[in-house]
Amino acid sequence: MKASDPRMYIAPGWFYDVTQKYGLYLLGALGGRSYEAFAEDIVKSASLSKGDAVLDAGCGTGYLFPALAKTIGKMGRIEGVDFSRAHVKAAERRIAKMGLVNARARVGRVEDIADEYPADGFNAVFCSAVLPVLKDAGLAMRGMVRVLKPGGRLVIWTISRESLATTRFKCYWDWSIRKFDLKFYTQTELREMYLEAGLNDPVFGATGLSLICVGSRIA
Ligand SMILES: C[S@@+](CC[C@H](N)C(=O)[O-])C[C@H]1O[C@@H](n2cnc3c(N)ncnc32)[C@H](O)[C@@H]1O
Repeated sequence: MKASDPRMYIAPGWFYDVTQKYGLYLLGALGGRSYEAFAEDIVKSASLSKGDAVLDAGCGTGYLFPALAKTIGKMGRIEGVDFSRAHVKAAERRIAKMGLVNARARVGRVEDIADEYPADGFNAVFCSAVLPVLKDAGLAMRGMVRVLKPGGRLVIWTISRESLATTRFKCYWDWSIRKFDLKFYTQTELREMYLEAGLNDPVFGATGLSLICVGSRIA
């Protein structure tokens, strides 16, 4: 089954959390950082302030929510969208457990963001571990840029294609690319996608196999 098919994500949220947390760590994708510490790195890269509004595109089980809530505080706003009902339910449980009154997760497609959220509404949009599974990443990125305020940041966390060429788990990645129809991008391709979507030249941070890519919307 292809990773762009919602039926790939029907397992309960806890199952996803365990595989993401330990699987990515063991595969070296997080450069030895824990899953939670890595989430903090992703959120920090957006240079957010208290009271900011953020959108987590393909939020999954709300992996970024604790770091986001800590950074933007009670006056901020967290919106999460994901096409997996199981993941959205897990994100809602996380929101309830943390007692967040300024966060919500809902079922929707990343590709429809521009139609479902007002333009110029967010200080940052996060797209963490989602780009490789999208059929049309360029379309999704243009939508994410549209809902950013001028100067707002698009933060993408993804595994880079360059790093996959050198990993000792290359066989696993080659297999999963074929099996799930994943697409990993080079740094040059990501830069072009940022520029085409109407963002400034992005800044890259590399850890393990991963790239955290940050660019701001041209005012
Ligand atoms: C690898 S998980 C990453 C989840 C989360 N962002 C994280 O970092 O833990 C990919 C997520 O993207 C969601 N997803 C994949 N394609 C999507 C799409 N077209 N629209 C909305 N969600 C999508 C899946 O349901 C899954 O929760």
